[in-house]
Amino acid sequence: MNLFDGQKQLFLFLLLIAGAIMAGGCQSGPSQRPDVHSYSRPDEVVVRHLDLDVAVDFEGKTVSGVATLRLENKTGASKLYLDTRDLEIRKITLDNGPQTTFKLGEEEPFLGRELVVDFTPETKMVSIEYASSPQAAALQWLSPEQTAGKKHPFLFSQSQAILARTWVPCQDSPGIRMTYNARVKVPAELMAVMSASNPTAKSPNGIYNFEMRQPIPPYLLALAVGDLEFRALGPHTGVYAEPQVIAGAAFEFADTEKMLVAAEGLYGPYRWDRYDILVLPPSFPYGGMENPRLTFATPTILAGDRSLVALVAHELAHSWSGNLVTNATWNDFWLNEGFTSYFENRIMETVYGPRYAKMLATLDYQALLKALQELPEKDTPLYIDLSGRDPDDVPSAIAYDKGSLFLRMLETTVGREKFDAFLASYFESHAFQTMTTAKFVDYLEKNLIAGDQDLEKRLKIRDWIYGAGLPDNAPVPTSDEFKLVENQIERWKTGTPAGQLDSNDWTTHHWLHFLRSLPQSLTPEQMADLDKAFAFTKTGNAEIACQWLTMSVQNQYHGADQRLGDFLTHIGRRKFLMPLYIALSKTPQGKEKALEIYRQARSGYHPVSYLSIDKLLGVGSSD
Ligand code: BES
Ligand code: ZN
Repeated sequence: MNLFDGQKQLFLFLLLIAGAIMAGGCQSGPSQRPDVHSYSRPDEVVVRHLDLDVAVDFEGKTVSGVATLRLENKTGASKLYLDTRDLEIRKITLDNGPQTTFKLGEEEPFLGRELVVDFTPETKMVSIEYASSPQAAALQWLSPEQTAGKKHPFLFSQSQAILARTWVPCQDSPGIRMTYNARVKVPAELMAVMSASNPTAKSPNGIYNFEMRQPIPPYLLALAVGDLEFRALGPHTGVYAEPQVIAGAAFEFADTEKMLVAAEGLYGPYRWDRYDILVLPPSFPYGGMENPRLTFATPTILAGDRSLVALVAHELAHSWSGNLVTNATWNDFWLNEGFTSYFENRIMETVYGPRYAKMLATLDYQALLKALQELPEKDTPLYIDLSGRDPDDVPSAIAYDKGSLFLRMLETTVGREKFDAFLASYFESHAFQTMTTAKFVDYLEKNLIAGDQDLEKRLKIRDWIYGAGLPDNAPVPTSDEFKLVENQIERWKTGTPAGQLDSNDWTTHHWLHFLRSLPQSLTPEQMADLDKAFAFTKTGNAEIACQWLTMSVQNQYHGADQRLGDFLTHIGRRKFLMPLYIALSKTPQGKEKALEIYRQARSGYHPVSYLSIDKLLGVGSSD
């Protein structure tokens, strides 16, 4: 063997090793996983339909049964990679026949465990017999005392962002779409509803059949079970709630059909047949969740005066931005929430007029400025690389409010007519598809900028999407109504007692602006003067209560202490809990009080809320 041969052999050997590393890397490495928050490999095999046959057991706190996945095998693969978390996998069969082998991977924080199922390139269906754990992070099992009726238990799910895998084994990535059917068995005195075609009355035997014929990503799988009633709001809209809540809910959401008509006028046909709202018990950890055909909503928006229904406009708008055109990964979350916040405001403007919409836009802008002050720079671009992070932990005012301001900037620069036409055709041409940030930028360049170099320069698209902070072409929302509020604050600061201010026609939004615009630091006497004049401590409006209670903690106003304890033990909406626990944690006495309240309240919160508060207060979670 001469030297040359030796070198050649060495070269071949190295080539072989490199090849092996690359092949190995491809099999288990991220290149086969387009979404860092999912173990699935949809480029090989993709789930096209889910058939769910499950029973809901309130005693055991489990959802158990069989999930049958219908597959499209693109590459002749013989392994199916699925997401699971805290699931017990009992048995897996192929095409309704033989049992097959499978492996569960190591548990990883928030991702759960990879489930690898062996099958053949010809396999069409994989049936997984499984049970969820009582700790399933998507599910909250409520005791009768936690409901309005106090007689029956209640269950609801919250699958976004990556919690669907805690109650259904699936390819849990927003880049995947499937249709689904479900047969759900529940105790006969309860009604089951899903993000699908729904019953309007209880079934005598507790068995319910559902169909979702439009393909949806798994984060939109949803189930709720409780003592529910239905009431129609319009021909295509209605509301579900406990009997004790249904009348108030129907009053509050009376404008839902109008919103639906307004939304269709703006962005094209509603593609989901019906739009209903389910009002949940107060422990629901979010304001709303856009489960298709059936928005899940917190009862904290039942203010009695319809003043918090922008949330309905928001969840309804997701029927286009999010549910119809879906963010491909959670890095692209702003495509869901930024678009939706913009559309929410446009629906509100259409139904309630520009003066109202401008108040809302101004409040959102204030939230954005606050977030920009508080967040590290790396979290302020619209597109964020979330590798290694739990998508549910990422602060979102940027995705929502910077995202919507970006669209507002596009609108004001190119003109409303042109921008609306652009958006309508964006939805039309990408219906039931997923969208990445890069694909959107490309579409924007081709269809809105269309070679206009001057326009391209003025828009600064890349600064908005990939850059930190706010670019200098950001519009500044303003509100004439809020100028009136600011005038009254000036009067108060210069000595007019609170009781003599002109606040007769003020709505929730005037009051929120009023409270947020007061000086940061107030004396207990000033707080008492405000409380005496406006009875903030007793307000039935949860938004105003949260703002006031936060200020009360910050200014050590103890007149609100009892309401604070009440609020924290009866409401589980994370957006309200966090600022209050954060404010309390700033002083040693406050922290002690926070821990004392939390000890009682924690068991009533949904995992989404208590896991965040555990981290904040440094309390070890026992689950
Ligand atoms: N899709 C979100 C809720 C969500 C986001 C759940 C991320 C899990 C992960 C929903 O549409 C939403 O934005 N809700 C807001 C209300 C809205 C009016 C801003 C909320 O819950 O506060
Ligand atoms: Zn949203």
